[in-house]
Amino acid sequence: MLPRCRPFFFQQTTCQCRKELSSTTQQFIEFRGVLSSERERNRTVSSFYNQPAIDAAACKASMRLTPATILYSGKSKDGRHVLKSAQYLQRELPIRIAHRIKDFRNLPFIVGSNPVILGVHELYIRAFNILNSFRPILTDEDEQKYCMKLQELLEDHKDVVSMLAEGFRECRRHVTNQEVVARFLDTTLTSRLSIRMLAQHHLALRDDKPNHVGIINISMPLKDLIERNSKFVTRMAAHKYGRAPTIKMSGHVDATFPYIELPLEYILPELLKNAVRATIENHLEDEEPHLPPIHITIASNEIDFVIRISDRGKGIPHHLMRRVLEYNFTTASSLSESGATSTAAEAGDDGSSAFSDMMEAVNPGPVGGPMHGFGFGLPTSRAYAQYMGGSLKVQTMQGIGTDVYLRLRHINSQGEAFRI
Ligand code: ADP
Ligand code: COI
Repeated sequence: MLPRCRPFFFQQTTCQCRKELSSTTQQFIEFRGVLSSERERNRTVSSFYNQPAIDAAACKASMRLTPATILYSGKSKDGRHVLKSAQYLQRELPIRIAHRIKDFRNLPFIVGSNPVILGVHELYIRAFNILNSFRPILTDEDEQKYCMKLQELLEDHKDVVSMLAEGFRECRRHVTNQEVVARFLDTTLTSRLSIRMLAQHHLALRDDKPNHVGIINISMPLKDLIERNSKFVTRMAAHKYGRAPTIKMSGHVDATFPYIELPLEYILPELLKNAVRATIENHLEDEEPHLPPIHITIASNEIDFVIRISDRGKGIPHHLMRRVLEYNFTTASSLSESGATSTAAEAGDDGSSAFSDMMEAVNPGPVGGPMHGFGFGLPTSRAYAQYMGGSLKVQTMQGIGTDVYLRLRHINSQGEAFRI
């Protein structure tokens, strides 16, 4: 189940809280806690209406960096590069967060007032206030305190994607123009990815991890990354079903190059879990004890690298093909029961899945939280791939299986690189 994070508006009222108080110290401490979250609530609520600082920041352009700039921006022995990086974030993050807040404000009213979506909106206002009011970062001590704040915010926002998935599922029936929602989600999710990459890059700069410059692994073995994610998905499938297809890898398995693991740690489990799920669910009745394996092929050249995931899960029916990349489209049964998600049943298909429970745990990526069954895996992965100067293509052979091609540009290749 999703951790339901209701916005402050919908939490316990002060009256209710006060009624329950007695004079013990513990309760006094709790009361102070209530008051402080009450104060925070009041600040957040008033921020909906009175936000000149947010408006001003939302008018400024963000300064996006290429991975190569980050990679070669130099490292000073006295650690000044860390201070400079924090100063860059101090200017940059409030601007990016203000842009997000502006987009929430521009959502259709019926969508923007959904409690879960409003909860995410509030999280961003709160993050803006915290980061924008942070004292100027001039010393190492300032920088350390700033890092603590960043760490806390990354944690506080870890369920944002799941919350958006739930919120948009709830109000899908009220949305007439799905394109508006798709555009909002593409921008919000990719911008959030970039904000999290910047914050984590800064935190990683201080760690000085071998073979890394911040979040960039300077010689990332792609095969190891895929293997790690394959094992994870396989383990979860075995746990749920007592069986899982083997996952084989071929092609340029020795390829190593500089890259950022973070987005791949989100995309790969999403694609693998789809292939595993299709394979298991479409071979339930087979006499044959072995499930057909999933084949992963890697190709790397001087411009980009490609990961093809081929399954024999019988493919995607014609009438669903045009919908699988839509946000909130799923054939998972647990959500189709709620009737709120756009489902295969709606499209005339008896889609069913017992895979949902299992996949709730399958999400080691930056977003955290359960994802399966919300129909966010493919569209979010495509948005991330496009944002990173690549593409995600689904090719299917009805009755046989599906090939998914993830193509991403090298960060040190010639030509236009993406900007974080
Ligand atoms: P979810 O996994 O939450 O359903 P996705 O966006 O990852 O969301 O996938 C949407 C739908 O696309 C799935 O519910 C499934 O019907 C279909 N799909 C995705 N990948 C495959 C695949 N490899 N084989 C068959 N169907 C697939
Ligand atoms: C997010 O994860 O949604 C963020 O924007 C993170 C940021 C507040 C540090």
